[in-house]
Amino acid sequence: MSYSAMGQVVLVGAGNMGGAMLTGWLKSGVPGSSITVIDPGPSEAMLKQIADAGACYTKEATADLRAGILFLALKPQVMGAVLPTLMSLVGPRTVVVSVAAGKTLAFMEQHLGAAAMVRAMPNTPAMIGRGITGAFANDAVSTEQRDIVHRLLKVSGPVEWLDNEDQINAVTAVSGSGPAYVFYLVECMAEAGRKAGLQADLAMRLARETVAGAGELLHQSPDAAAILRQNVTSPGGTTAAALSVLMADGGMQPLFDKAIEAARKRAEELAG
Ligand SMILES: NC(=O)c1ccc[n+]([C@@H]2O[C@H](COP(=O)([O-])OP(=O)(O)OC[C@H]3O[C@@H](n4cnc5c(N)ncnc54)[C@H](OP(=O)(O)O)[C@@H]3O)[C@@H](O)[C@H]2O)c1
Repeated sequence: MSYSAMGQVVLVGAGNMGGAMLTGWLKSGVPGSSITVIDPGPSEAMLKQIADAGACYTKEATADLRAGILFLALKPQVMGAVLPTLMSLVGPRTVVVSVAAGKTLAFMEQHLGAAAMVRAMPNTPAMIGRGITGAFANDAVSTEQRDIVHRLLKVSGPVEWLDNEDQINAVTAVSGSGPAYVFYLVECMAEAGRKAGLQADLAMRLARETVAGAGELLHQSPDAAAILRQNVTSPGGTTAAALSVLMADGGMQPLFDKAIEAARKRAEELAG
């Protein structure tokens, strides 16, 4: 189904995530004329992007506006106050998509009424089109709606559809919060390098490029992570010496089990 046949794509919240999605949509060929952006105070750059694309802009929902796809990229803490102002945008053919962390479909239904809804969890590399998104659709979402939502989410990277909404909490713990774990890994490697005798800035450059380069290799290679690891581990060599520490009983796996579980539980608590 074409975007125009679906009705307007209404983006509510043109901040970091909403802005990244808008940029991706325009790059991937979604016509600007089929997009309306609602945000009370977007940046000058965002306003220019909206105008250049021929998209519509409004500070708040207007009485004449209906959404084919209502894409919510608001901060979770403002959702409760803003959703009631968006009720008039939702009709029988609207699909609502929310990327707000912790806000359940039940919460959205409470404020917008029963509708076709998708809850999605992207991550920050979406800003450069290299994210990954976990998404769950309720039973009211048609095949055509799911297909078009998939296309809209895919501009920021692959989309994984989930079997049940609770899995969003585990997705949040693994990939939603995941980039921060990788950035911390860089910090830890750099600090260990400094302790091993390198200047701090050199250790940071080495750690940063190693993680970025290994990530790119992982991205480009068809091999599993375990194979790529084995490929750089000669028996009795330096990598094997380090991995014997990282892969020991009290090493990285149990630490990650604990960290991911802490994040998953927190996501559950925030969903309230
Ligand atoms: N950033 C990420 O990596 C990431 C990852 C996964 C999920 N998410 C989710 O994405 C959502 C947005 O996050 P973000 O980082 O993009 O936040 P953000 O940069 O603060 O963007 C939110 C935007 O919504 C605007 N806004 C506030 N009130 C509004 C209203 N009444 N109507 C329309 N727009 C309104 C804000 O304007 P003002 O700035 O003027 O208030 C801002 O431009 C969050 O729910 C977050 O959980 C983000």
